Amino acid sequence: MKAFQLDALGIENLNPVERDVPRPGPGEVLLRMKAASLNYRDLAGVLYGGRYKSPYIPLSDGCGIVEEIGAGVTRVKVGDRVAPSFFQKWISGRPQMEYLLSSLGGPNDGCLTQYMVLSQEGVTKVPGFLTDEQVATLPCAGLTAWRGLMEGGFKAGDTVVVQGTGGVSIFALQFAKAAGGTVIATSSSDEKLERAKALGADHLINYKRAPEWAKEVRRITGGRGADHVIEVGGAGTFVQSLQATRLDGHIAVIGVLAGLTQDVPIAAIFGGNIRIQGITVGSRTMVEEMCRAIEVSKLEPVVDKVLPMSESRAAFELMKGQGHFGKIALDLN
Ligand SMILES: NC(=O)c1ccc[n+]([C@@H]2O[C@H](COP(=O)([O-])OP(=O)(O)OC[C@H]3O[C@@H](n4cnc5c(N)ncnc54)[C@H](OP(=O)(O)O)[C@@H]3O)[C@@H](O)[C@H]2O)c1
Repeated sequence: MKAFQLDALGIENLNPVERDVPRPGPGEVLLRMKAASLNYRDLAGVLYGGRYKSPYIPLSDGCGIVEEIGAGVTRVKVGDRVAPSFFQKWISGRPQMEYLLSSLGGPNDGCLTQYMVLSQEGVTKVPGFLTDEQVATLPCAGLTAWRGLMEGGFKAGDTVVVQGTGGVSIFALQFAKAAGGTVIATSSSDEKLERAKALGADHLINYKRAPEWAKEVRRITGGRGADHVIEVGGAGTFVQSLQATRLDGHIAVIGVLAGLTQDVPIAAIFGGNIRIQGITVGSRTMVEEMCRAIEVSKLEPVVDKVLPMSESRAAFELMKGQGHFGKIALDLN
């Protein structure tokens, strides 16, 4: 089978390899992988590394067909289409360190491979109407957006700020609209903002032209502020996010696209009674809940570009260039 492994830091060190097709042991399933998708985390892992073994197979997110099952497997059967869980050991409940160390695409081998063996507990059956590439966007980007909204207590009528038009933010836009929210979308690109509008975004802000975009959010919300901010920018956006959030509102702290560290005005947090929650993806139970919502709402993840597996390096370059809208996927057939 074909796979890609990272032999050293740098996209140029992502190399095709031939490996034996693995066999499932008791309680395990063999997946024939159909598609995978990229997350910023995968790019960061390739460029800057992590506490990963070397070499490793990147990409946490994929879609596969169960080709063979080991003894005692009851959760799935041969032919089922599934998505691997981002955290293989986080089945339900609150996060534990043991769960957070079980992610795919570092430290464990990921989805940039034609076959993989996983525990039956680490896969979820997925909605039938989605394409393989769309399924491959669910485990990290989809689930992070879902959890960021749902654990923040999102409800119909709430206003959500989504930052930029990458994978997590576009999912948050779609979930919020499907569930009756108002969405304020920001982007560096007017063209991308028009695409966000076509997906249902109610208000658009170009954050290059309006670096103090919190003022715009206040204006749009009649001074009240947003109920939720899906915070993917990090250092470059966090203070604006605080200023954009209403009294007792919620910020889901998810990403670091615009830097890792920042002075924070502490008084704005307690004075604003702001509820700040750090998010690391989520559990399998949350994937199941998200898939039920996707089934009912017929929400279609936005896959901007699909490349063949042989062009894996080009896919990483594309993500690095931030020209994408939503997700970039790979066809592993
Ligand atoms: N904690 C978790 O569990 C978790 C899970 C998933 C992702 N993440 C993190 O969340 C972040 C987003 O991940 P992703 O995979 O969705 O990324 P992505 O698809 O690579 O997002 C790229 C987009 O982010 C936008 N962006 C960049 N700088 C920005 C800024 N200063 N303000 C607003 N938007 C900005 C740009 O949108 P425009 O081109 O429209 O300007 C860019 O195209 C990353 O930091 C990632 O590591 C964390």
